[in-house]
Amino acid sequence: MTSQAKVAIYPGSFDPITYGHMDIVKRAAGLVDHLIIGVLMNKHKNPLFSLEERVALIEEAVHHMPNVSVQSFDGLTIDFAEKVHARMIIRGLRAMTDFDYEFQMAHTNQTLNPDIETVFLSTGLDFSYVSSSVSKEIFLYGGDVSKLVPAHVIDAMQRKVKQIQEDA
Ligand code: PNS
Repeated sequence: MTSQAKVAIYPGSFDPITYGHMDIVKRAAGLVDHLIIGVLMNKHKNPLFSLEERVALIEEAVHHMPNVSVQSFDGLTIDFAEKVHARMIIRGLRAMTDFDYEFQMAHTNQTLNPDIETVFLSTGLDFSYVSSSVSKEIFLYGGDVSKLVPAHVIDAMQRKVKQIQEDA
């Protein structure tokens, strides 16, 4: 990748990746030379999937996209952006309810490094209600999540629940 190449990161927890995330990935990948999906280790949250599992699920979801790659990171998003020479941080907006948190995060990152822009992309209308937490909740109560997450993620959630039940 040359120093002229437009690199963006799309950071998040991705626990797990949803069709909403994939919609943003597709839109962002069309705007930049290289999109790096940054998966936060997130010690403070208690994710359903391990970091390695989240990365693997994303890799399977985006393997057909030649300018998209996946990396995990720990610490500040802005440090990760600097490390991979990204000029942009991509975030998806589903509704106005996302706005306060996202704007605060964008301003924080802007303060930390004014040369890196946060770019907000709106999800397609079909995905405005989709989130990782909603997907997990519906799945855990036996609902149909086939419109929310890809088939391989449903398989992984099934395996995970079975494993949790066996370990209990
Ligand atoms: O998918 P999420 O959980 O909404 O993603 C949030 C994320 C990972 C982008 C945000 O929590 C983050 O950037 N965390 C890393 C710590 C950081 O950089 N904090 C300063 C900006 S608020």
